[in-house]
Amino acid sequence: MPSALIIGASRGIGLGLTAELIGRGWDVVASPSPALAATGARLAQVDIDTSETVATLASSLAGETFDHVLINAGITGGKADTASTVSRDAMAHLFWTNAIAPIRAGRILLPLVKEGGSIGFMTSILGSVGGRTHGYAELYSASKAALNSLTRGFAVQDVGSRSVAVLNLHPGWVKTDMGGPDADIDVATSVGGLADVIAATRPPGQRYIDYSGAAIPW
Ligand SMILES: NC(=O)c1ccc[n+]([C@@H]2O[C@H](COP(=O)([O-])OP(=O)(O)OC[C@H]3O[C@@H](n4cnc5c(N)ncnc54)[C@H](OP(=O)(O)O)[C@@H]3O)[C@@H](O)[C@H]2O)c1
Repeated sequence: MPSALIIGASRGIGLGLTAELIGRGWDVVASPSPALAATGARLAQVDIDTSETVATLASSLAGETFDHVLINAGITGGKADTASTVSRDAMAHLFWTNAIAPIRAGRILLPLVKEGGSIGFMTSILGSVGGRTHGYAELYSASKAALNSLTRGFAVQDVGSRSVAVLNLHPGWVKTDMGGPDADIDVATSVGGLADVIAATRPPGQRYIDYSGAAIPW
């Protein structure tokens, strides 16, 4: 039975992907817990902003390895904020949760990824620097670009010669609390594609791809 560990699965895409993978016969450990009980996932309590909680989870899973570990947690920050208006604290929170905390979690959880497996970071097409032709959501986009940059180093320095793929995933524009009701696709469409991508991807290397498997320019 393939297995996954998903960080940030209380609602939205993380919750949907947990249910999707379990429906496909995967064994899934997911965090945080409350809304997950009905999915059949094994539950874990993690605040990604606090590395100690990630480390505690890793310790509690000692001896277990997973085909896929996904760092899905993320926030939008103040939607109206720009670089000209945002406060230092709000900016620090956004970059901490969307870039620094995920890479820290990735480093803590990488030993739990099986050889031949993959580690995923839920980024966004908005984190593409090469593909950026607009000024929409500049701070959120910059935080995901920072995450993409950090994962490039992670793939070289931390994964190194291990047989583990690194996936920078864009879920599509999805109808969730974050994506809003006018988004392009529903959660079921996004997580169906993401589950296919995760199941099909094999090492080596790093890919920046969307839920349909299409490559995104860095
Ligand atoms: N929706 C879209 O259109 C879209 C597009 C591109 C990328 N994304 C990315 O996809 C991911 C999921 O987005 P979504 O649309 O499902 O968002 P969502 O509905 O707002 O859900 C966000 C998830 O992240 C968790 N989370 C936030 N901060 C956390 C923390 N400090 N520790 C642990 N978990 C935390 C939330 O848990 P709580 O319930 O505890 O807050 C929740 O489970 C995010 O990384 C987002 O940036 C989304």
